[in-house]
Amino acid sequence: QMADSLFIINNFARDYFVKTLFETDEGQNVGLSYFEERGFSEEIVRKFQLGYALNLREAFVREAQHKGYNLEYLQKTGLVTVRNDQPIDNYRGRVIFPIHNQSGKVLGFGARILVKSDRAPKYINSPENDIYVKSKVLYGTYFARHAIDKLDECLLVEGYTDVISLHQAGIENVVASSGTSLTTDQLRLIKKYTNNLTILYDGDNAGVKAALRGLDMAIEEGLNVKLALIPDNEDPDSYVRKIGAEGFRQFIADNKQDFVLFKLHVSMKEAGNDTTRKSQLVNEIAETIARIDKVEDFTRQQDYIRQCSQLLKIDEERLVDLVNKFIR
Ligand code: UTP
Ligand code: MN
Ligand code: MN
Ligand code: MN
Ligand code: MN
Repeated sequence: QMADSLFIINNFARDYFVKTLFETDEGQNVGLSYFEERGFSEEIVRKFQLGYALNLREAFVREAQHKGYNLEYLQKTGLVTVRNDQPIDNYRGRVIFPIHNQSGKVLGFGARILVKSDRAPKYINSPENDIYVKSKVLYGTYFARHAIDKLDECLLVEGYTDVISLHQAGIENVVASSGTSLTTDQLRLIKKYTNNLTILYDGDNAGVKAALRGLDMAIEEGLNVKLALIPDNEDPDSYVRKIGAEGFRQFIADNKQDFVLFKLHVSMKEAGNDTTRKSQLVNEIAETIARIDKVEDFTRQQDYIRQCSQLLKIDEERLVDLVNKFIR
């Protein structure tokens, strides 16, 4: 009941913001111009149902209440806030990115400010409620699922605009973590469509470090994780615009590396000549390799043992023994 009401309100809001973008002067002059300047085509704006919220205190809430929507539910969606007993719109003068579930229903919104400001966050996102549970959602799944299934690979980026720009470039098997670290539920969502996950983050990014920490979790879920490091100071959106669709595809093909081996490289660099740290590291990698399902992925486990022992310059036998110690 509650969930249904929230979906109905979000659906109404999505339509309202799209209409505002295309059919009001402010929507066209401010919102549409913004998307145009970013290089988004009208087709892609329509496909992702992007919208605009007027820079007024109560433009949306007035329409919504006129429609008969209950103020309590409007607040639950985060579209409306009550301040000094007055309901006001939460998204004002922002472009709107609806967040869909796998079947295309609107769970919530990301609302982006147009001009960078120290006083306001870049994005305001819907609060968690009965239908929007951040840890279970990946932005773009609805638009990406067929391509992920067909290509048997899921690309993971950080942001809404990364997903949209890559789609416009014809790269459609892509979802976004929306700036948070991956959860088990999100990994399971990916697993419904493919076993192959490729992370497209930049190397000095907190996201890569978080993903490295979550690597064992991904392995446990049976995912085959790869990484292509995006050059510094770029994200997939800016980079695909810079080098073009074909260039971007080639870049991924040339730079895709195995995430387990990447982690080993990084930790070996960190360990340097510290022997204690080095033996810790051998244990850690054995523990990671032990998480691969031996029945389902026996050759994969063998490959890792071979490659990692070579990198670590230790006997393959010794790594096999260690791995077996971790398997229970
Ligand atoms: P980024 O700062 O990389 O933004 O955050 P972006 O996606 O590149 O957006 P543009 O290109 O500047 O428009 C990555 C993601 O982290 C979340 C959003 O989901 C964003 O897409 N984020 C970021 C927030 O939720 N709030 C913020 O204030 C910033
Ligand atoms: Mn499949
Ligand atoms: Mn960087
Ligand atoms: Mn960006
Ligand atoms: Mn970014």
